[in-house]
Amino acid sequence: MDVNVVVVGSLNMDLVTRAERLPRAGETLAGESFATVAGGKGANQAVAAARLGARVAMIGCVGADAYGEQLRAALEREQIDCQAVTSVEGVATGVALIVVDASSQNAIVVVAGGNGQLSPAAVAHFDGLLQQAEVIICQLEVPQATVEHTLARGRALGKTVILNPAPAAGPLPADWYASIDYLIPNESEAAALSGLPVVSLESAEAAAGRLLALGAGKVIITLGEQGALFADGQCFEHFAALPVQALDTTGAGDTFVGGFAAALAQGKSEREAIAFGQVAAALSVTRAGAQPSIPGLNDVQGFRP
Ligand code: RIB
Repeated sequence: MDVNVVVVGSLNMDLVTRAERLPRAGETLAGESFATVAGGKGANQAVAAARLGARVAMIGCVGADAYGEQLRAALEREQIDCQAVTSVEGVATGVALIVVDASSQNAIVVVAGGNGQLSPAAVAHFDGLLQQAEVIICQLEVPQATVEHTLARGRALGKTVILNPAPAAGPLPADWYASIDYLIPNESEAAALSGLPVVSLESAEAAAGRLLALGAGKVIITLGEQGALFADGQCFEHFAALPVQALDTTGAGDTFVGGFAAALAQGKSEREAIAFGQVAAALSVTRAGAQPSIPGLNDVQGFRP
Protein backbone atom coordinates (compact mmCIF):
# COMPACT_ATOMS: atom_id res chain seq x y z
CA MET A 1 0.00 0.00 0.00
CA ASP A 2 1.27 3.48 -0.83
CA VAL A 3 1.13 5.67 2.25
CA ASN A 4 0.05 9.31 2.10
CA VAL A 5 0.81 10.38 5.69
CA VAL A 6 4.09 9.57 7.48
CA VAL A 7 4.54 10.32 11.18
CA VAL A 8 8.07 10.56 12.59
CA GLY A 9 7.72 10.54 16.35
CA SER A 10 7.16 8.97 19.72
CA LEU A 11 5.37 5.91 21.06
CA ASN A 12 4.64 5.83 24.81
CA MET A 13 2.75 3.57 27.13
CA ASP A 14 0.54 5.91 29.15
CA LEU A 15 0.16 5.02 32.84
CA VAL A 16 -3.01 6.94 33.67
CA THR A 17 -4.55 7.66 37.05
CA ARG A 18 -7.71 9.65 37.67
CA ALA A 19 -7.94 11.72 40.85
CA GLU A 20 -10.22 14.46 42.13
CA ARG A 21 -7.44 16.99 41.58
CA LEU A 22 -3.75 17.08 40.62
CA PRO A 23 -1.37 16.46 43.58
CA ARG A 24 0.62 19.33 45.09
CA ALA A 25 4.41 19.06 45.60
CA GLY A 26 5.18 16.55 48.35
CA GLU A 27 1.58 15.38 48.64
CA THR A 28 0.23 11.81 48.40
CA LEU A 29 -3.28 11.68 46.94
CA ALA A 30 -5.72 8.77 46.71
CA GLY A 31 -6.45 8.01 43.05
CA GLU A 32 -9.78 6.77 41.71
CA SER A 33 -8.61 4.51 38.88
CA PHE A 34 -5.58 3.33 36.95
CA ALA A 35 -5.22 2.24 33.33
CA THR A 36 -2.41 1.36 30.94
CA VAL A 37 -3.22 2.99 27.59
CA ALA A 38 -1.40 3.23 24.24
CA GLY A 39 -0.14 6.79 23.67
CA GLY A 40 2.80 8.96 22.64
CA LYS A 41 2.24 12.08 20.58
CA GLY A 42 3.59 10.53 17.38
CA ALA A 43 1.63 7.29 17.68
CA ASN A 44 -1.54 9.15 18.67
CA GLN A 45 -1.27 11.34 15.57
CA ALA A 46 -0.65 8.28 13.40
CA VAL A 47 -3.74 6.53 14.82
CA ALA A 48 -5.85 9.66 14.36
CA ALA A 49 -4.79 10.04 10.73
CA ALA A 50 -5.44 6.34 10.05
CA ARG A 51 -8.87 6.26 11.72
CA LEU A 52 -9.80 9.42 9.84
CA GLY A 53 -9.07 8.06 6.39
CA ALA A 54 -5.33 8.35 5.65
CA ARG A 55 -2.92 5.58 4.68
CA VAL A 56 -0.28 5.96 7.38
CA ALA A 57 3.27 4.84 8.15
CA MET A 58 5.01 5.43 11.46
CA ILE A 59 8.75 5.90 11.94
CA GLY A 60 9.73 5.44 15.60
CA CYS A 61 11.57 3.41 18.23
CA VAL A 62 10.41 1.28 21.16
CA GLY A 63 12.30 -0.91 23.61
CA ALA A 64 12.43 -4.67 23.05
CA ASP A 65 9.88 -5.25 25.83
CA ALA A 66 6.20 -5.96 26.43
CA TYR A 67 5.09 -2.32 26.19
CA GLY A 68 6.91 -1.98 22.87
CA GLU A 69 5.12 -5.04 21.48
CA GLN A 70 1.74 -3.76 22.71
CA LEU A 71 2.30 -0.34 21.13
CA ARG A 72 3.31 -1.85 17.80
CA ALA A 73 0.28 -4.17 17.88
CA ALA A 74 -2.00 -1.20 18.57
CA LEU A 75 -0.73 0.55 15.43
CA GLU A 76 -0.96 -2.61 13.33
CA ARG A 77 -4.61 -3.00 14.34
CA GLU A 78 -5.19 0.38 12.64
CA GLN A 79 -3.52 -0.88 9.42
CA ILE A 80 -0.58 1.49 10.04
CA ASP A 81 2.62 0.49 8.26
CA CYS A 82 5.06 -0.33 11.11
CA GLN A 83 8.08 -1.51 9.09
CA ALA A 84 9.95 1.55 10.42
CA VAL A 85 9.01 1.06 14.09
CA THR A 86 12.26 -0.39 15.41
CA SER A 87 12.66 -2.37 18.66
CA VAL A 88 15.92 -1.53 20.43
CA GLU A 89 17.54 -3.96 22.90
CA GLY A 90 18.67 -2.57 26.23
CA VAL A 91 16.29 0.38 26.53
CA ALA A 92 12.80 0.57 27.93
CA THR A 93 9.85 1.67 25.83
CA GLY A 94 8.85 5.29 26.47
CA VAL A 95 6.28 5.87 29.19
CA ALA A 96 4.08 8.80 30.20
CA LEU A 97 2.84 9.16 33.77
CA ILE A 98 -0.49 10.96 33.52
CA VAL A 99 -2.87 12.26 36.18
CA VAL A 100 -6.33 13.38 35.01
CA ASP A 101 -8.45 15.45 37.39
CA ALA A 102 -12.20 15.79 37.83
CA SER A 103 -12.31 18.79 35.51
CA SER A 104 -10.66 16.70 32.73
CA GLN A 105 -7.33 18.55 32.86
CA ASN A 106 -4.11 16.55 33.05
CA ALA A 107 -0.47 16.68 34.13
CA ILE A 108 2.05 14.50 32.27
CA VAL A 109 5.65 13.40 32.89
CA VAL A 110 7.26 11.63 29.93
CA VAL A 111 10.31 9.34 30.12
CA ALA A 112 11.62 9.08 26.55
CA GLY A 113 13.16 5.59 26.71
CA GLY A 114 13.26 4.11 23.21
CA ASN A 115 12.05 7.38 21.64
CA GLY A 116 15.49 8.81 22.44
CA GLN A 117 17.05 6.21 20.13
CA LEU A 118 15.31 7.44 16.97
CA SER A 119 18.30 8.79 15.06
CA PRO A 120 18.46 10.79 11.81
CA ALA A 121 20.10 7.70 10.28
CA ALA A 122 17.05 5.60 11.23
CA VAL A 123 14.78 8.05 9.43
CA ALA A 124 17.15 8.19 6.45
CA HIS A 125 17.03 4.37 6.29
CA PHE A 126 13.27 4.63 5.64
CA ASP A 127 13.53 7.56 3.23
CA GLY A 128 11.35 5.61 0.80
CA LEU A 129 8.40 6.19 3.13
CA LEU A 130 9.04 9.93 3.18
CA GLN A 131 9.20 9.85 -0.61
CA GLN A 132 5.74 8.21 -0.80
CA ALA A 133 4.12 10.63 1.64
CA GLU A 134 2.04 13.64 0.77
CA VAL A 135 2.09 14.88 4.36
CA ILE A 136 4.89 14.42 6.91
CA ILE A 137 4.25 15.07 10.62
CA CYS A 138 6.80 15.59 13.43
CA GLN A 139 6.55 16.47 17.12
CA LEU A 140 9.29 17.06 19.74
CA GLU A 141 9.33 13.81 21.76
CA VAL A 142 12.24 12.39 19.72
CA PRO A 143 15.81 13.77 19.41
CA GLN A 144 16.14 17.28 17.99
CA ALA A 145 18.57 16.13 15.29
CA THR A 146 15.96 13.65 14.05
CA VAL A 147 13.25 16.29 13.82
CA GLU A 148 15.71 18.58 12.03
CA HIS A 149 16.59 15.88 9.50
CA THR A 150 12.92 15.05 8.87
CA LEU A 151 11.82 18.67 8.40
CA ALA A 152 14.67 19.39 5.99
CA ARG A 153 14.10 16.18 4.05
CA GLY A 154 10.37 16.83 3.85
CA ARG A 155 11.06 20.28 2.45
CA ALA A 156 13.65 18.93 -0.06
CA LEU A 157 11.12 16.35 -1.28
CA GLY A 158 8.43 19.02 -1.69
CA LYS A 159 6.06 17.39 0.82
CA THR A 160 3.57 19.15 3.07
CA VAL A 161 5.44 19.37 6.38
CA ILE A 162 3.62 19.72 9.71
CA LEU A 163 5.41 20.37 13.00
CA ASN A 164 3.44 20.00 16.22
CA PRO A 165 6.05 21.57 18.56
CA ALA A 166 5.06 19.53 21.60
CA PRO A 167 6.31 19.52 24.23
CA ALA A 168 8.04 22.90 23.80
CA ALA A 169 10.39 24.34 26.41
CA GLY A 170 11.68 27.33 24.44
CA PRO A 171 12.33 28.72 20.97
CA LEU A 172 12.85 26.42 17.98
CA PRO A 173 16.14 26.53 16.05
CA ALA A 174 15.74 29.46 13.66
CA ASP A 175 16.60 27.45 10.56
CA TRP A 176 13.72 25.00 11.08
CA TYR A 177 11.02 27.50 10.21
CA ALA A 178 11.70 27.58 6.49
CA SER A 179 10.91 23.86 6.28
CA ILE A 180 7.55 24.05 8.06
CA ASP A 181 4.33 24.43 6.07
CA TYR A 182 2.02 24.19 9.09
CA LEU A 183 3.20 24.91 12.63
CA ILE A 184 0.54 23.69 15.09
CA PRO A 185 1.26 24.63 18.73
CA ASN A 186 -1.19 24.92 21.63
CA GLU A 187 -1.28 28.09 23.77
CA SER A 188 1.69 27.26 26.01
CA GLU A 189 3.78 26.00 23.10
CA ALA A 190 2.99 29.13 21.07
CA ALA A 191 4.10 31.21 24.06
CA ALA A 192 7.33 29.22 24.47
CA LEU A 193 8.18 29.53 20.78
CA SER A 194 7.25 33.18 20.32
CA GLY A 195 8.32 34.54 23.71
CA LEU A 196 4.89 36.21 23.97
CA PRO A 197 2.15 35.32 26.45
CA VAL A 198 -0.87 33.60 24.91
CA VAL A 199 -3.89 34.22 27.12
CA SER A 200 -6.53 35.51 24.69
CA LEU A 201 -7.41 35.55 21.03
CA GLU A 202 -5.61 38.88 20.59
CA SER A 203 -2.43 37.62 22.22
CA ALA A 204 -2.65 34.43 20.13
CA GLU A 205 -2.75 36.62 17.01
CA ALA A 206 0.38 38.44 18.18
CA ALA A 207 2.17 35.13 18.83
CA ALA A 208 1.07 33.72 15.47
CA GLY A 209 2.35 36.88 13.76
CA ARG A 210 5.73 36.42 15.45
CA LEU A 211 5.92 32.75 14.34
CA LEU A 212 5.09 33.73 10.75
CA ALA A 213 7.78 36.43 10.90
CA LEU A 214 10.24 33.74 12.02
CA GLY A 215 9.45 31.90 8.77
CA ALA A 216 6.68 29.36 9.41
CA GLY A 217 4.51 28.91 6.33
CA LYS A 218 1.18 28.96 8.20
CA VAL A 219 0.32 28.74 11.88
CA ILE A 220 -2.62 27.09 13.65
CA ILE A 221 -2.72 27.71 17.41
CA THR A 222 -5.07 25.31 19.20
CA LEU A 223 -6.76 27.15 22.06
CA GLY A 224 -8.76 24.47 23.89
CA GLU A 225 -12.18 25.84 24.81
CA GLN A 226 -11.40 28.95 22.72
CA GLY A 227 -11.17 26.90 19.51
CA ALA A 228 -8.28 27.49 17.10
CA LEU A 229 -6.58 30.42 15.40
CA PHE A 230 -5.36 30.14 11.80
CA ALA A 231 -2.82 32.63 10.44
CA ASP A 232 -1.23 32.68 6.99
CA GLY A 233 0.21 36.18 6.73
CA GLN A 234 -2.85 37.41 4.80
CA CYS A 235 -5.41 37.12 7.57
CA PHE A 236 -6.24 35.66 10.95
CA GLU A 237 -9.23 33.34 11.14
CA HIS A 238 -10.81 32.14 14.36
CA PHE A 239 -12.49 28.72 14.44
CA ALA A 240 -14.83 28.50 17.44
CA ALA A 241 -14.69 25.44 19.69
CA LEU A 242 -17.47 22.88 19.48
CA PRO A 243 -19.68 22.45 22.54
CA VAL A 244 -18.97 19.07 24.16
CA GLN A 245 -18.80 17.70 27.70
CA ALA A 246 -15.07 17.06 28.32
CA LEU A 247 -14.06 13.92 30.22
CA ASP A 248 -10.33 13.71 29.39
CA THR A 249 -8.35 16.09 27.16
CA THR A 250 -5.34 13.74 26.80
CA GLY A 251 -4.53 13.36 23.11
CA ALA A 252 -6.98 16.02 21.90
CA GLY A 253 -4.21 18.05 20.26
CA ASP A 254 -2.85 14.88 18.64
CA THR A 255 -6.31 14.03 17.30
CA PHE A 256 -6.56 17.52 15.79
CA VAL A 257 -3.15 17.20 14.11
CA GLY A 258 -3.82 13.69 12.77
CA GLY A 259 -7.29 14.64 11.55
CA PHE A 260 -6.00 17.83 9.92
CA ALA A 261 -3.24 15.88 8.13
CA ALA A 262 -5.62 13.13 7.00
CA ALA A 263 -8.02 15.71 5.57
CA LEU A 264 -5.23 17.53 3.71
CA ALA A 265 -3.96 14.23 2.31
CA GLN A 266 -7.48 13.54 1.01
CA GLY A 267 -7.52 16.84 -0.85
CA LYS A 268 -9.64 18.94 1.50
CA SER A 269 -8.88 22.68 1.71
CA GLU A 270 -6.96 23.80 4.80
CA ARG A 271 -10.07 25.46 6.26
CA GLU A 272 -12.08 22.26 5.75
CA ALA A 273 -9.19 20.32 7.29
CA ILE A 274 -9.15 22.58 10.36
CA ALA A 275 -12.91 22.16 10.85
CA PHE A 276 -12.56 18.39 10.39
CA GLY A 277 -9.70 18.20 12.91
CA GLN A 278 -11.73 20.24 15.37
CA VAL A 279 -14.68 17.84 15.24
CA ALA A 280 -12.36 14.88 15.73
CA ALA A 281 -10.63 16.57 18.70
CA ALA A 282 -13.96 17.58 20.25
CA LEU A 283 -15.19 13.98 20.09
CA SER A 284 -11.91 12.72 21.58
CA VAL A 285 -12.27 14.78 24.77
CA THR A 286 -15.62 13.09 25.51
CA ARG A 287 -13.79 9.74 25.92
CA ALA A 288 -10.98 8.59 28.22
CA GLY A 289 -7.37 7.87 27.23
CA ALA A 290 -5.20 8.86 24.28
CA GLN A 291 -5.57 6.33 21.44
CA PRO A 292 -8.86 4.79 22.72
CA SER A 293 -10.49 8.24 22.61
CA ILE A 294 -9.74 8.96 18.93
CA PRO A 295 -12.91 8.82 16.82
CA GLY A 296 -13.37 7.17 13.42
CA LEU A 297 -14.53 8.71 10.15
CA ASN A 298 -18.20 7.77 10.72
CA ASP A 299 -18.21 9.46 14.15
CA VAL A 300 -16.81 12.68 12.68
CA GLN A 301 -19.09 12.68 9.66
CA GLY A 302 -22.11 11.97 11.86
CA PHE A 303 -21.27 14.64 14.45
CA ARG A 304 -24.08 17.14 15.14
CA PRO A 305 -23.25 19.75 17.80
O1 RIB B 1 -0.39 14.28 23.75
C1 RIB B 1 -0.71 13.25 24.64
C2 RIB B 1 0.44 12.33 24.79
O2 RIB B 1 1.51 13.03 25.41
C3 RIB B 1 0.19 11.14 25.69
O3 RIB B 1 -0.35 10.04 25.01
C4 RIB B 1 1.56 10.89 26.30
O4 RIB B 1 2.15 9.71 25.87
C5 RIB B 1 2.41 12.10 25.94
O5 RIB B 1 3.31 11.82 24.97
